[in-house]
Amino acid sequence: MSASTVRVIGFGMGPQHVTPEAADALRSCDYVLAAAKGAEDPLLAIRRAVCEQYGAELVAVPDPERDRDAATTTATAGYDRAVRAWHTARVESYRAVLEERGGTAGFLVWGDPALYDSTIRVVEQLGLPFDVIPGISAPQLLAARHRMVLHEVGRPVHLTTARRLREDIAAGQRNLVVMLGSAPDLEGLEDWQVWYGANLGAPGEQLAAGRLGDVGEASLRVAREHARAIDGWVMDLYLLRGPR
Ligand SMILES: C[S@@+](CC[C@H](N)C(=O)[O-])C[C@H]1O[C@@H](n2cnc3c(N)ncnc32)[C@H](O)[C@@H]1O
Repeated sequence: MSASTVRVIGFGMGPQHVTPEAADALRSCDYVLAAAKGAEDPLLAIRRAVCEQYGAELVAVPDPERDRDAATTTATAGYDRAVRAWHTARVESYRAVLEERGGTAGFLVWGDPALYDSTIRVVEQLGLPFDVIPGISAPQLLAARHRMVLHEVGRPVHLTTARRLREDIAAGQRNLVVMLGSAPDLEGLEDWQVWYGANLGAPGEQLAAGRLGDVGEASLRVAREHARAIDGWVMDLYLLRGPR
């Protein structure tokens, strides 16, 4: 037997962001799969809280090891290869659970499935019918916390990763949401404005905003570590806007 259908469900940053549509989808699933990075994965605890609230059974699937050396390289080919190998390993571990259990399987996705998340690609490879329920993404929450619009009137916003930031700026981008970073390296951008958020929606949430030269890279690092100390995990992002 194999699962007959899959539902990819974005749940925002926690139970407080589950939309009525996502709640209905969770209730419709026979079980919900979530990647687990070890027994004490703090992000798994948040997924568990979401499932408990909607009576869904959570099945934790151990996440295959990722080649972090290759994945942090700045060489795009090495990075892409490492991520592809990791996705393939993920597909196989999910396939095993789906074949054993059958029924309607939910995949819980942090934030929104359309943004820097591999679940849709993984599910496509499984070859099963699926639908997607959107969730509140980190950039949306960042904008809400700073009570702002992500772009100026009629102007674009560029979504990117910390790894690509320098080349995107060199290519002329002046209004960027930067995700998937570690400690920011923002040298030379002192006159840019930054709107920063770490662990948005969690108890350790941290915010900072201002001219980057005034806010200081060091204080963003402190905010990041403060968030980690409170929550036991850290994720951050920021909007950067160049001087006119
Ligand atoms: C793998 S991506 C997932 C993005 C997610 N699908 C979304 O819709 O926001 C993870 C990145 O999203 C950002 N992120 C996710 N959750 C966050 C949070 N609660 N606070 C700040 N940044 C967050 C960080 O840049 C992190 O490195």
